[in-house]
Amino acid sequence: MTATTPTVILRDGTPCPAIGLGTWRYGESSSARNAEIAALRSAIDIGYRLMDTAEMYGDGGAERVLGEALADALKQGLRREEFFIVTKAYPHHADRAGMRRACDASLRRLGLDRIDLYLLHWRGGVPLAETVAAFDDLRTRGRIARWGVSNFDVDDLRELAAVPGGEACAANQVYLSLRERGPEFALLPFQLRHGMPLMAYSPIDQGALARGDEAKEPDALARVAKRHGATRAQLALAALLTLPGVIAIPKSSNAQRLQENWDAARLALSAEDRAELDRDFPPPRRKKPLAMT
Ligand SMILES: NC(=O)c1ccc[n+]([C@@H]2O[C@H](COP(=O)([O-])OP(=O)(O)OC[C@H]3O[C@@H](n4cnc5c(N)ncnc54)[C@H](OP(=O)(O)O)[C@@H]3O)[C@@H](O)[C@H]2O)c1
Repeated sequence: MTATTPTVILRDGTPCPAIGLGTWRYGESSSARNAEIAALRSAIDIGYRLMDTAEMYGDGGAERVLGEALADALKQGLRREEFFIVTKAYPHHADRAGMRRACDASLRRLGLDRIDLYLLHWRGGVPLAETVAAFDDLRTRGRIARWGVSNFDVDDLRELAAVPGGEACAANQVYLSLRERGPEFALLPFQLRHGMPLMAYSPIDQGALARGDEAKEPDALARVAKRHGATRAQLALAALLTLPGVIAIPKSSNAQRLQENWDAARLALSAEDRAELDRDFPPPRRKKPLAMT
């Protein structure tokens, strides 16, 4: 992490970069492997230290390419402690034995001996108490530094907090973008009250917010981006990064767009910019069910 990287403080006091790299769609085809490893190396050179992946992505392929890029970075002299590696277990692996196996397999693919944040990818049929016990077991054995969840709404988090050990949940990763602002109404305030950062996935709506519609009048994203000499994608990210307790994890496998997204963290939005964005991308006025991509 560079001195200027914005951070969000986790409940155990650890600073976590506020901008990270998503890896969904990495590791899906062997022909893209070299280009993907090169993209990950560029990301590391640019300054990305938070990487988000999952056993699901490319059926372990994303963890494998990330593992290669990390091994390379460590050989070049970067230290393991500089990175913050997030991966996720399938809900059907979320009991004690399944989680041990899934975590060991992720560690092998990543070439690491510890995961910084291990998430339950979404809520499935395994009782939360069993999953929390499985996470605790991994933490006690030093396989993970901390754990969290993904795609949990307020009621799920309340249930989780009522389970023994459940209050240790370090983060919740959900779909949050200018087009999908639902979590800002109740979920984000709930998480802030409980000292639990919100990790925003699909923060540029899988690329849709970056594209805009040239046939239409420029929207607020285009107008505010123009004022800042920035791109639509950068504004979409900056709008999330100004929210307290929010970490954004845009995915790109293109060196130029990786740099563009990284630079978004340095954009400072004025109250006027925010008001203009709010007119075209209105904040929620009531609780909405959590969306998933
Ligand atoms: N927990 C969950 O259930 C869950 C669900 C979805 C995603 N996630 C995580 O969140 C990460 C991010 O979400 P996402 O991948 O769904 O969507 P995203 O980050 O909103 O968008 C990624 C797409 O936008 C393009 N893109 C990236 N930067 C751009 C830029 N500056 N200008 C124009 N296009 C740009 C990318 O293409 P290029 O690669 O060609 O640049 C890619 O097609 C995932 O990779 C994954 O790690 C988690």
